[in-house]
Amino acid sequence: MRILLTGANGQVGWELSNRGAKRGLEILALDRSALDITDTISVRREVNRPGVSLVVNAAGYTAVDEAESEPELAFAANRDGPAYLASACGKAGIPLVHISTDYVFDGQKKGAYLVTDPVSPLSVYGKSKAAGEVEVRKHLREYLILRTGWVYGIHGHNFVKTMLRLGREREVVQVVTDQYGCPTFAADLAETILRIATQFLEGGQVHWGTYHYCGKGVTSWHGFAEEIFRLASGYESLKVKRVEPISTSEYPTPAQRPASSILDCSVLEHTFHIHPQPWAESLAQMLEMLLSVENSKIS
Ligand SMILES: NC(=O)c1ccc[n+]([C@@H]2O[C@H](COP(=O)([O-])OP(=O)(O)OC[C@H]3O[C@@H](n4cnc5c(N)ncnc54)[C@H](OP(=O)(O)O)[C@@H]3O)[C@@H](O)[C@H]2O)c1
Repeated sequence: MRILLTGANGQVGWELSNRGAKRGLEILALDRSALDITDTISVRREVNRPGVSLVVNAAGYTAVDEAESEPELAFAANRDGPAYLASACGKAGIPLVHISTDYVFDGQKKGAYLVTDPVSPLSVYGKSKAAGEVEVRKHLREYLILRTGWVYGIHGHNFVKTMLRLGREREVVQVVTDQYGCPTFAADLAETILRIATQFLEGGQVHWGTYHYCGKGVTSWHGFAEEIFRLASGYESLKVKRVEPISTSEYPTPAQRPASSILDCSVLEHTFHIHPQPWAESLAQMLEMLLSVENSKIS
């Protein structure tokens, strides 16, 4: 019983690969150089390898702003790749776990988005991910689409690492305060996927479908940054003295982002009995892993 993992060198893919191996799962972890999911022939070949009984797609085009100027690349990885994977899985009778995003919503809703809320993406990235969801549902009955948001991990580039860099360089850091979401630690998301994967591999019944998973609680990018600096100051002396709140209009980006992309995770909680932990607790764990290792290298 093997899990085929795509995008194994991404933030989430790296956690899946490492944590899956620690759980004793047999994971065929393929990074982009080993499997480009936009190559339909390679996708079919890998999905049909002997023993593969579940596919987890952690690959994706995630450069939200760059996607505005290269939509064909975003759609190839986020719509066509999942379509090839879902089609190959359908033919082989294998389920697919696919990761999607809060950016399929337009952010106008007051309150958290339910899995049943209609999608209305604002950006090329969001549109390409929404199109990927459609493809997965079209080709397969046994799929798990997990929408998540504001992902950060030990491995790869993310908001937490950008803030740490700025906090070491500058006394004042400006951060957007009128966008709200739920920061999600890649390790927590990976653990959730692995728990569901294990349930399936052990012969348990899995209720396939679309779910939301993100850290518990809501914050703004500004609130997220303040908590990063507060926690990081326990490990090192940062230069930053003030986190200045700014509005989205003061920080124009090529891609429009939802003002509020809070995800309601209750369906996943009730179905799988998995309960996301408060986002600030996960952040504290991530910073401990990251900064205690970094500081031990320095000393
Ligand atoms: N990051 C977030 O805040 C966020 C939020 C919501 C949802 N998500 C979703 O979560 C999933 C994982 O995201 P992440 O944060 O782990 O992203 P990531 O760190 O950017 O990892 C994505 C990985 O996919 C690989 N990839 C890109 N195109 C590929 C292709 N055509 N074939 C095979 N691999 C390809 C990338 O390889 P290269 O490094 O070689 O490009 C990278 O290793 C994605 O589906 C993303 O849309 C992410």
